[in-house]
Amino acid sequence: MARPVTLVTGASAGLGVEFAKQCAARGEALALVARRRDRLEALKAELGGDVHVLAADLSKADAGASLVAELAAEGLRVDTLINNAGFGLAGKFGALPLDRQLEMIDLNVRTLVELCHLVLPAMRAAGKGAICNVASTAAFQAGPNMAVYYASKAFVLSFTEALHHELKGAGIHVSCLCPGPTATEFGAVSGSKSPTLERIKGPADAVVRAGLRGLDANKAIVIPGAPNKFTAQINRIMPRAAMRRIVGSIKV
Ligand SMILES: NC(=O)c1ccc[n+]([C@@H]2O[C@H](COP(=O)([O-])OP(=O)(O)OC[C@H]3O[C@@H](n4cnc5c(N)ncnc54)[C@H](OP(=O)(O)O)[C@@H]3O)[C@@H](O)[C@H]2O)c1
Repeated sequence: MARPVTLVTGASAGLGVEFAKQCAARGEALALVARRRDRLEALKAELGGDVHVLAADLSKADAGASLVAELAAEGLRVDTLINNAGFGLAGKFGALPLDRQLEMIDLNVRTLVELCHLVLPAMRAAGKGAICNVASTAAFQAGPNMAVYYASKAFVLSFTEALHHELKGAGIHVSCLCPGPTATEFGAVSGSKSPTLERIKGPADAVVRAGLRGLDANKAIVIPGAPNKFTAQINRIMPRAAMRRIVGSIKV
């Protein structure tokens, strides 16, 4: 019998580290994935317990399939999937390198979908499981100056809501976590120097706590923090053109 693990992608920094810590505290066995193996090994040493480290570039074709096959070879099956790895790029679409923007789609969208598809059969067989896909409040409107990032997160939100609905009654929880600006390495990786976003960043631990609470309760969409809930909801009444102007006016 394969042993159940919680798979956390992007576990070498930011929200992924926090997911690993909070899931370990719940007594879950972990499989941690990212490119920086040294960071994953350090986290494993810090956490102790049943932690498996896999270094992989999840933007590569078939990265998800290789990962799930590696876990199976170690006698592990994913019963909770935290699809967290992702990055953004700040700047105008035409001025940003195309290869990096396609890499973003591969990581934020393609591998996230691939992993969901690959873990489902074992979850169905077990009659239980949980999938948390990390989107963003960026998912709720278009994002001039971060166009591909916002669009990738809109995909994650739409896809995850649909999956949540399809799996109702199957014993498999599916949640889309939509954090607002959070203190992680995200800003540095994206090249953003926004003083506005810097000022309003919240702590990663609260985001992850809300995400796991929402996943336990099988909430389709989890938006941590009252200001983030408000900005996500305002899209319902604000004309899209006005939202584009507001987001486009934020210096990234
Ligand atoms: N921070 C925010 O303000 C914010 C807000 C809303 C949503 N989010 C979302 O939250 C998620 C986590 O981001 P974060 O804020 O925690 O950023 P972060 O601190 O930069 O962490 C990103 C994680 O993703 C991993 N990663 C990046 N590229 C990868 C690749 N090609 N293959 C495998 N792993 C890769 C990184 O590990 P390696 O570099 O070692 O590979 C790292 O562990 C992302 O999906 C992001 O879009 C963040």
